[in-house]
Amino acid sequence: MALQKTLSLLLLSLLTLLGLGLVQPSYGQATNKKFKWQHVDSTETGGNNFYCDTMMQSRGMTRPTCKQLNTFIHENIETINNICNAPNIRCKNGRMNCHVGEVRVTGCKDTGSSPPPKCSYQATAGKKNVTIACDGNPLLPVHFDGYILP
Ligand SMILES: *[C@@H]1O[C@H](CO)[C@@H](O)[C@H](O)[C@H]1NC(C)=O
Repeated sequence: MALQKTLSLLLLSLLTLLGLGLVQPSYGQATNKKFKWQHVDSTETGGNNFYCDTMMQSRGMTRPTCKQLNTFIHENIETINNICNAPNIRCKNGRMNCHVGEVRVTGCKDTGSSPPPKCSYQATAGKKNVTIACDGNPLLPVHFDGYILP
């Protein structure tokens, strides 16, 4: 009970500080939140078209237009964050803050056969070497750059 009270008090103070703008999430943290929303699904293994249709819609990527390509990573968050510790390589945009990791994924590709927001996707699933960009301190994933094809 006492612990719960302390925790509520701590949370309240943090919310107050956030409200006052004294503690602001860094650029890296906000972008990492978006990365996780668009690219991380640790609780499932995904894999089929229905999974893509459902997830693309519930994660807000089917409006105002159908996102053409999106990849969901099925690993726990520690495993994904740890990819940031792999050697730096060049990203598609030329920056050197990309890293490669082998992960289970579901790739979703828009088939174009259904208009937004009920977009229709073709799924491809399996283990892939993916490239992600990391930023911030601590270093966290901020962008899904693509696949390394075997
Ligand atoms: C990922 O890359 C490593 C090192 O090049 C390779 O051994 C492995 O087979 C690759 N995995 C996949 C799924 O392509």
